Amino acid sequence: MGRFHYLLGILLLFVSSFLWFASSLRREPVPSGISLTYGPCVCATDPANDTAPEPDTKPLPPPDVTTEIETLPLPTQSSYLPTTNTHENAQSPFPLKLWQKAGSKGIAPDRWNDIQSWLKQNPFLRHEILTEGSADQYVRENFADFPEIRDLYLSLPVPILKADLLRQLILYNDGGIWSDLDVTCHHPIDIWIPEEYRNRTNVVVGLEFDGSQFASWTVMTKPRTSHGVAVVKYVVEKLQASAAEHNRTTAELNMTMISDVVDVTGPQAMTVALLQNLEREMGMPVGRANISNIMQPTLLHDVLVLPNAAFASLQAGHPEDRGPYLVEHHYAGSWKNTQGGEGP
Ligand SMILES: *[C@@H]1O[C@H](CO)[C@@H](O)[C@H](O)[C@H]1NC(C)=O
Ligand SMILES: *[C@@H]1O[C@H](CO)[C@@H](O)[C@H](O)[C@H]1NC(C)=O
Ligand SMILES: *[C@@H]1O[C@H](CO)[C@@H](O)[C@H](O)[C@H]1NC(C)=O
Ligand SMILES: *[C@@H]1O[C@H](CO)[C@@H](O)[C@H](O)[C@H]1NC(C)=O
Ligand SMILES: *[C@@H]1O[C@H](CO)[C@@H](O)[C@H](O)[C@H]1NC(C)=O
Repeated sequence: MGRFHYLLGILLLFVSSFLWFASSLRREPVPSGISLTYGPCVCATDPANDTAPEPDTKPLPPPDVTTEIETLPLPTQSSYLPTTNTHENAQSPFPLKLWQKAGSKGIAPDRWNDIQSWLKQNPFLRHEILTEGSADQYVRENFADFPEIRDLYLSLPVPILKADLLRQLILYNDGGIWSDLDVTCHHPIDIWIPEEYRNRTNVVVGLEFDGSQFASWTVMTKPRTSHGVAVVKYVVEKLQASAAEHNRTTAELNMTMISDVVDVTGPQAMTVALLQNLEREMGMPVGRANISNIMQPTLLHDVLVLPNAAFASLQAGHPEDRGPYLVEHHYAGSWKNTQGGEGP
């Protein structure tokens, strides 16, 4: 038996050396004159290329100072996750994609009408419903270069914490619309942003019924904004801090250790992170006072805040003085159970 293992070890060693040798052959420098690129360069959207540029042996041309200043993104590049959507290029379109996720038991029959409402109102929307498995795979693929975030996500044992983090990772990485399954869409997304803000908006959030916290059941954003980075960073740090406080790893977190899921990963976390980031980028105070009970859409930098009628009319008592009811949230989720389960 021991001898068999010994032989197996030798064999593995041999195979891995061979693979290493084969792969180093494939990394042979390409003869000059042959261009590796084909079509427009998409490097800027590749996190690996942003954070770890390939060493370039050719001397760089002298920087053109004037164009560099003109194209310099307003929020400084985050060293945490790369950003490509800056305040300056707010004219790029919102990705026309709706992201949703099924709970562990699949999709309850009464949710299909809600799903259909999105596609009826917005026939041009691409649509993806993630499952536990495909969500894990999404994070593995898209955050491969950010192992701290990827491994934290994959390690989380509590479904609601994963679901909360997942939406923020998708909103950051791909953008589009996240919506929980228990949300009906009543108006096409084309009308969500008033004309005067169309070319200045990168993120759209709606107030909850309490009028001072952003709803996380429905969020629309462009990919890779500094705001998306700020929210991911905030949630990741809160999860790590919650685990550290109990001398546990994030893989051992349970609902007893999470002070309040709303604060750690949920809408409150998103609200605090967004307001803090806006304050930093705008260089002036930004807080609840600036969003509380607003009556009409309010643009803070490039974040459009919608009054509570927009996403939470049902809970806010159907106010008639603050614009259209865009979506309706049915609170079908059973996420408040002690195991941190997720709604349908
Ligand atoms: C950088 O981007 C190019 C083109 O998109 C890709 O072929 C290459 O593998 C990327 N480099 C890294 C380190 O991911
Ligand atoms: C943005 O939209 C406003 C109002 O519709 C318009 O006045 C302005 O010229 C637009 N800006 C750009 C850069 O297109
Ligand atoms: C965590 O460990 C520290 C130092 O070992 C100890 O002082 C603290 O009481 C522990 N906390 C918990 C919640 O176990
Ligand atoms: C969470 O873990 C702690 C420590 O291991 C344990 O005391 C507590 O009962 C657990 N709570 C739940 C809901 O499992
Ligand atoms: C937010 O409100 C505070 C206090 O009213 C005010 O000083 C500040 O300028 C506001 N910020 C923005 C971005 O309007």
